[in-house]
Amino acid sequence: MTAAADWSRVADPARRVGRSVEFHAEIGSTNDRARAALREPGGEGLAVVADLQTAGRGRRGRSWVSPAGVNLTVSVGIRPLLDPSHAGLLGIAAALATRDACAALAPDAKLAIRWPNDVVTARGAKIAGLLLETAVEDGRLTEAVIGIGINVNWRRSEMPAEIAARATSLADVAGRELDRTALLAFLLDALDAELAALERGASPVDRFRSVSMLDGRRVVVELGEELLAGIAAGIADDGALLLDTDAGRVALTIGEVISVRDAVRAEVPA
Ligand code: BTN
Repeated sequence: MTAAADWSRVADPARRVGRSVEFHAEIGSTNDRARAALREPGGEGLAVVADLQTAGRGRRGRSWVSPAGVNLTVSVGIRPLLDPSHAGLLGIAAALATRDACAALAPDAKLAIRWPNDVVTARGAKIAGLLLETAVEDGRLTEAVIGIGINVNWRRSEMPAEIAARATSLADVAGRELDRTALLAFLLDALDAELAALERGASPVDRFRSVSMLDGRRVVVELGEELLAGIAAGIADDGALLLDTDAGRVALTIGEVISVRDAVRAEVPA
């Protein structure tokens, strides 16, 4: 039997992100708790971890499915010292931190990022997703809640078929069970460093470009009700996806890549 995870040992008062860690055996959504904590004294940077979310949210109104006790579901609320126009870069930086933390535990896996912030295998199987919820008041980015879900020890063989068709787990790519608390420690260190760099004015975009898996591929992007097809042509300096469509090049700051030709379907697992 696996020993109970000791999440509190991951807390580090020297960090702004993850200076303390709050564990819930069960919660609605860790993002909601992290947002509420931001209004409490000392709540900035609290890492809220749950073994099970009963109302976990994904991007674009989806739910985030993750069985109890095998994955990492964590949220951190911060008050970033950033211009609201840099909110996209915060998502890019958080995706890089998530990828780097995953790579630290599975160094032989070729992990990539699918814009805007999915961590995937080289063939497009999703390992982690990120939900960034921000608030802007009087033209200032007053708060940001970064919610991250990583499939850690949820074996692909245990996933429902519709999830296994496009996802895998870190344990599957590493070939062994992994320590979720060690992963959280890497993640909080990386997030803390990325946030500090961004606030100093350093751009994460070049590093993002080096691990982005879309360039030159035919993709379909969902924009609300609309679908837009084209060839991915890179990442702009503000983190937007450049897409060459029949009507010319567009820069997308929002949206979700829902298909990548030759990269998503039928090539799973890693
Ligand atoms: C996505 O890929 O659609 C984003 C998934 C984000 C899931 C995480 S799990 C922790 C945090 N709490 C939530 O309710 N959602 C995020």
